[in-house]
Amino acid sequence: MENEIVAAAGDKFAGDPADPCTMVIFGASGDLTKRKLIPALYNLAKDNLLAREFALVGFARPEMTTEQFRDLCTEEIKQFATGRVDPDIWHWFVRRLYYVSGDFTDAAAFQRLKTTLGEADKEHGTRGNYFYYLATAPAFFATCINQLGDAGLVHEDNGLWRRIVIEKPFGRDYDSACALNVEIRKVLQERQIYRIDHYLGKETVQNILAFRFSNGIFEPVWNRNYIDHIQITAAETVGVEKRGGYYDTAGTLRDMLPNHLFQLVCLTAMEPPVSFDANVVRDEQAKILKALQPFSDRDVLTRTVRGQYGPSHGVSGYRQEPMVAPASRTETYAALKLYIDNWRWADVPFYVRTGKRMTNRVTEIVVQFKRAPFVLFRKTAVEKLEPNRLVLHLQPDEGISLTFGAKIPGPVVRLGGVDMAFNYADYFNVAPQTGYERLMYDCMLGDATLFQRSDMVEAAWHVVAPILNVWGALDPREFPNYPAGSWGPADADDLLTKDGRHWYNGPPLRAAAV
Ligand code: BG6
Repeated sequence: MENEIVAAAGDKFAGDPADPCTMVIFGASGDLTKRKLIPALYNLAKDNLLAREFALVGFARPEMTTEQFRDLCTEEIKQFATGRVDPDIWHWFVRRLYYVSGDFTDAAAFQRLKTTLGEADKEHGTRGNYFYYLATAPAFFATCINQLGDAGLVHEDNGLWRRIVIEKPFGRDYDSACALNVEIRKVLQERQIYRIDHYLGKETVQNILAFRFSNGIFEPVWNRNYIDHIQITAAETVGVEKRGGYYDTAGTLRDMLPNHLFQLVCLTAMEPPVSFDANVVRDEQAKILKALQPFSDRDVLTRTVRGQYGPSHGVSGYRQEPMVAPASRTETYAALKLYIDNWRWADVPFYVRTGKRMTNRVTEIVVQFKRAPFVLFRKTAVEKLEPNRLVLHLQPDEGISLTFGAKIPGPVVRLGGVDMAFNYADYFNVAPQTGYERLMYDCMLGDATLFQRSDMVEAAWHVVAPILNVWGALDPREFPNYPAGSWGPADADDLLTKDGRHWYNGPPLRAAAV
């Protein structure tokens, strides 16, 4: 591309191969490994972003030899690669895979891991740098970290590094998140901890900052003077799939709000950072989380809505899903009206909603601007002016559209809403990715910008704590309250209509393009 901007990552430039290292995946026999992590590592290898001195150790309970693990990965990549698998690159990659079978609670297994790491270091020259990825059930996060500490595998000296990626959910409420932070910091320094939120690996999510801060025309209107409100939607058409056991103890609020949706709020609302330095960017994000107006018990009743899907048109209701309690009170939908108590956003509502089994799969941010004054159109056929709307389409459509009014041709003054639409696919010919490439690459480079710091995680849980309390105390008697395949409960519509607004359930980006 002409004028391509190359962003700095750590003290290296994005585009250089990452540091030599051995990655260890805890929970290597699970879905995440085969669907996302191995395909993402393969993509990094293909793009020459993995160091030549790289190795990977899979650690999990099932008994398997290294050879069997290599064969298994070779089978699985055929199904889960995001594009054609080049046999030469795969051959290079697969020779770097090792496997250790063991229980996370068994110290002897961590000694075997240590031995294997030594072998991998020797064979591939990975220089003793270790990058651990906890793709395990959350109950094992602290256990694995303590075992690594006891085995002497997290200590950084002689210029080598040891980093650890922790998947979500990080805690299940404010207290447990704080306790987990305390527990793991007994063993690790904060700079070694990479709390991952896979939303930040999405190109379109990363583009929010590029869009806001690399264009001069939007930032001046990006505030309470021009913006009426913001809507953030993450709607899914799937139900809880095979995760009923986890989901029924978590619910949508825990599963999506303090992590994915709050990340989108931060990126939309944060002040321009003075640099792309990890802590500078995260300081700005943390300021937004800390400025989110706390919910009183009364606010929970007036500014939040929960829902649970019921059966519809042959689709099971949530309570009929496997591993879900038949009278479950767990929510599969949540909508909140948030306020950010700072100068830029005072009195601008941020409506956020997310749910399972909704009409369409769509993740988007809608920025609705204030209406222009009507005065000029009083004596015309125009009945009202529509507000301008900027939509950041994050998935499955990827792009940005802007809606504005235009004169409908003819002798009478009438206005029609039209769109200007940018679609990523029309401009950038980029091979499909898993969304984990950038995150793993950054971790290997030591760039924590896209990872959550402890204060951010705690601030986010702090905001949802009163909602969890009130929802936990009050029985949701009306559940199920929305049919599978709909846009959620009627109360969620009321959340906006009582403010004279409505949810934007717009057309897909393609259809909107002119
Ligand atoms: C996960 C949640 O973190 O994100 C899932 O646990 C949810 O319940 C998923 O389906 C959504 O991610 P994506 O990338 O499919 O939008």
